[in-house]
This record gives sequence, C-alpha cells and structure tokens, in this order.
Amino acid sequence: MGRLENKVALITGAGSGLGRAIALEFSRQGARVFAGDRDEVSVIETTDAAIQEGGTMVPLCCDVSDKEDVASLLSTIEKEAGKLDALVNNAGITQREDFRHVTDDQWQEILDVNLTAAMRLSRDALGLLRVAEGSSIINISSIMERVHVRQLSAYSTTKAALAGLSRAMAVEYSAFDVRVNYICPGYAETAMTQRILRNPAVRQGLLDRTPMKRFVSAQDVAKAALFLASDDASFITGEGLTVDGGMSVSL
Ligand SMILES: NC(=O)c1ccc[n+]([C@@H]2O[C@H](COP(=O)([O-])OP(=O)(O)OC[C@H]3O[C@@H](n4cnc5c(N)ncnc54)[C@H](O)[C@@H]3O)[C@@H](O)[C@H]2O)c1
Repeated sequence: MGRLENKVALITGAGSGLGRAIALEFSRQGARVFAGDRDEVSVIETTDAAIQEGGTMVPLCCDVSDKEDVASLLSTIEKEAGKLDALVNNAGITQREDFRHVTDDQWQEILDVNLTAAMRLSRDALGLLRVAEGSSIINISSIMERVHVRQLSAYSTTKAALAGLSRAMAVEYSAFDVRVNYICPGYAETAMTQRILRNPAVRQGLLDRTPMKRFVSAQDVAKAALFLASDDASFITGEGLTVDGGMSVSL
C-alpha cells in the first residue's frame, strides 16, 4: 500500500529535474498524477516512465505563467478527477545577471513563472483542494530564500516571496483544511544548475561548504515532498523544510 493511495496530485515542471522525481515518487506511492510542463516532449517522457513502473500519470502541456493554460489545466483535472489532494508548485526558471543590469522584462519574467504562477494555481485550485480531505500545497522554494550569491537577486526574491506566500496562505487555507508548506533545496544537479556546476572550482567550493559533502539528489527532494503531502504531515502547515545537507546552517 503506497502512502498516497487514492490521492490526486498535480506537479508543475514535471518534465525534468526535481519535478520529474517528485511526479515519479508520487506515482510510485499510489497517487494519480497530473504532470504539467511547458515542454511537451519531456513531460511525455516522465509519463512514459511512470506508466512503465505501473503508475497512473497524465501529461499536460502547460505554461504556468499563462492564465489560459492554467485555467485549462485545472478544468482538465476537475473533469477527470474532480478533486486535488496535492498541488506541487515546482516549475521554475533562473537567470544570472548583476543586479545593476537586471532589465524590467527579466524581472517580470521570473516573477511571472516562479511566483505569480504559484499564487494563481494555489488560488484557483482551492475548489478542487477543498473537495479532497487533508489536502496540501507544496511550493518549491530554495535555500536562496535566505542565503544569497551574486547575480541571483531576482531568483532569490521570488524564492523568498514564495516562502512568505506559503506561510500567509497556510493561515488562510487552514479554514478549508488545506495545508501549505514549502521546501528549500540546496544545490541539486539538474538542467537548471548544469552550467554553473560544470565549473570544477565552483563544484568543489560548494561541496566544501556542505557538511554532508554531496549535492542534493532529486530523490531527496521527492521524499521531502512525499512526507509533506502524506497524512504523516497532517498537522504541519506554514512550514519550510530545508533539504541541503546542512549547507545553509554551516559557516
Ligand atoms: N536545481 C537546484 O539546485 C534547485 C535548488 C533549489 C530550488 N530549485 C527549484 O526547484 C524547481 C525545479 O528546478 P530544477 O532544478 O528541477 O530545474 P529544471 O530546469 O531541471 O526543471 C524545471 C522544469 O520546469 C519547467 N518549466 C519552466 N518554466 C515553466 C513554465 N513557465 N511552465 C511550465 N513548466 C515550466 C521546465 O520545462 C522544466 O521541465 C525550481 O522551482 C527551482 O527553482 C532547484
């Protein structure tokens, strides 16, 4: 018996990296997973992998920063499942730019994808989340919500805001029996970090600063999301779970 048996989940950004690992883990644990991503090919690959393992997954091609796409995504879930037990707002992008050169368009784009999309989905999915018992929202923030490096000011801003939004939503959504939590991963080796982690000096520097001496695996994050979505976390809301091998608490 899986830990998410009879539950319905929506994972955004499920085509690669952390989102793919979360979608596959939720499917292994018995959830019926709606896997959303703007990259149709990669989200179909995730779905094929889940189906090969005997899971139930539906691929949905969707740009989470597009209002109409989000409305159609939720309407598909309403028609096909009629409820939502877990919403994982994972889709995200990054940009590297010195703060003094960040353009208005760059700023807006990252806010639209990393923050506004999570707000809109969480707001508009409430009807489906209320139908399910003990449902929850899990927002994928980052340790960058509180520790910072050069050239990631816009990214850090969205991740700090997502943590704040999660805590604020937790207070309001408790009235509807919907929990809201967030996860703060450290550095994981995914498409997002590929370029920066290709640099051996940067890699070693990051490992040296991580007490547990390895990068975060996508599975580490998937297991944290599984815990927060499961009934084991039924009295946990407004909480941030850091998954970084001790990096953000070490000097
Ligand atoms: N990799 C890390 O080290 C790390 C650390 C902390 C937090 N995070 C966060 O984890 C989440 C996943 O990141 P990842 O490392 O797996 O990156 P990734 O680039 O491997 O995956 C991101 C996925 O989101 C999808 N996506 C991007 N914009 C989208 C949009 N507008 N609509 C729909 N789908 C969209 C992409 O197609 C991709 O499949 C992000 O929110 C990221 O900020 C990553």
